[in-house]
Amino acid sequence: MKIIAGNWKMNGTRTNLENMINELSSINTENTIILCVPYTMLNVKSDKIAIGAQDISQHTHGAYTGEVSAQMVADAGAKYTIIGHSECRQYHGDTNDTVRTKAEQALANGLTPIICVGETMDEKQAGKTMTIIESGVRESIPLDTKSPIIIAYEPRWAIGAGLTPTHDEIATAHTLIANTLTDMGLTGTPVLYGASVKGSNAAEIMSIPNVDGVLVGGASLKSDEFIPIITSVK
Ligand code: PGA
Repeated sequence: MKIIAGNWKMNGTRTNLENMINELSSINTENTIILCVPYTMLNVKSDKIAIGAQDISQHTHGAYTGEVSAQMVADAGAKYTIIGHSECRQYHGDTNDTVRTKAEQALANGLTPIICVGETMDEKQAGKTMTIIESGVRESIPLDTKSPIIIAYEPRWAIGAGLTPTHDEIATAHTLIANTLTDMGLTGTPVLYGASVKGSNAAEIMSIPNVDGVLVGGASLKSDEFIPIITSVK
């Protein structure tokens, strides 16, 4: 059983989500399906798919115009939230410290954070991939975490680019993450792979040891691309 999470980014409408839920209702799968959608769609209900947000504020409440708190996201019906996505690190300046604070907010409000880590192309070319991944995991997870969390390894240079790391690169990264989590007392924490996942590569990626599922951007927007990913694994 794997976790298949979609990240709709700033795309779609409530009708698109309702249609997707309808189309997913007929598929036969034991995999956990999560759709992380814009805030405006968080109160759409489904008994088959869990709904998640794509980010939350690091603050509880107050004068933060435009921000949405973990409590609000949970109140709207979400069970999960992505935190530290590459685009939030790039466009909103999220750092590992911000991500950890947001993860604390998520956990305090009963949300499961999907914490993203991964290297940029510059970091990859400088030979820093493993350091960035390990520090991302160690610094982004709140101390003494007991509640479930999910980690997503997303090589930032590969997101939306149609590029994927090699099988060995994914295996090495996921082994490092699994070992780091064990060292932190978090053995068994699911680790997803994300960046340019599609129907044609999903099964192979999810056959790699320590890959517990995928986080899918572009290919999660249309059911004819998302369903083959969900049904590619048992
Ligand atoms: P992609 O995006 O699947 O379109 O590469 C992945 C993500 O941003 O989570």
